[in-house]
Amino acid sequence: MDAMPSPTIVVRALTVDFGGTLALDRVDLDIAAGSLTVIVGPNGAGKSTLLEVLAGVREPSAGSVDVGTHSRAFVPQRAAVSEHLPLTVRDVVSVGAWGRAGPLRRLDASDRAAIDSAMERLDIAALARLPFASLSGGQRQRALLAQGLTRRAGILLLDEPTTGLDAASAERNRAAIAQERTRGATVVCVSHDDRLISDAGHVVQLDAGRVRAALDEVRAAREPAR
Ligand SMILES: Nc1ncnc2c1ncn2[C@@H]1O[C@H](COP(=O)(O)OP(=O)(O)OP(=O)(O)O)[C@@H](O)[C@H]1O
Ligand SMILES: [Mg+2]
Repeated sequence: MDAMPSPTIVVRALTVDFGGTLALDRVDLDIAAGSLTVIVGPNGAGKSTLLEVLAGVREPSAGSVDVGTHSRAFVPQRAAVSEHLPLTVRDVVSVGAWGRAGPLRRLDASDRAAIDSAMERLDIAALARLPFASLSGGQRQRALLAQGLTRRAGILLLDEPTTGLDAASAERNRAAIAQERTRGATVVCVSHDDRLISDAGHVVQLDAGRVRAALDEVRAAREPAR
């Protein structure tokens, strides 16, 4: 028998129908506690839709997602941010701490430590006082990942966390993901990053809303690219 730990995330017959377009078509998945799962597949395969449903920000048309009592942090692929939003980078990262108790609670020392640590790990501490809207795309992406880390959630859901970043920033994000796993988090990423795929215990290939291959076949096929 397999000594697989009991799954943290259980997905059954998950279907998302966008008015005739099946973005997800009866997806079944078990995601093990503490694992790193990478979702791969072509544009339009349903990867972001799957992550959104796992994050609880999109309702499925049918089927179920069970995450038990675990808290979730979600970093979307593209965050729509108003250019006029009067928030500093630190404010944006601090939103991650609200998830724990709501925006009306004062941040405590452990929240501030989590915010500082996330900004240092992603090398954005020097940007802390700048308006978020003034950042470049890659810098924004790092700030949003820092927000996700600040949440200290049981499940971290990241949509393309290294796409479009320079090599050093991508490496920092991978290191931050590895540290989250050390903390005990279960991490699910949408990514085409070969290094992230090599680190993953589980690779799920989506195509036209269906799971084509779940596992190590995908990783094995890509390993020489490393
Ligand atoms: N809000 C929406 N309304 C209608 N159709 C949508 C919506 N969001 C996604 N879709 C459709 O659902 C399918 C899956 O989209 P999704 O964004 O999940 O793909 P993806 O695998 O993340 O693609 P990419 O690699 O480009 O990010 C696509 O056909 C897309 O056009
Ligand atoms: Mg996507």
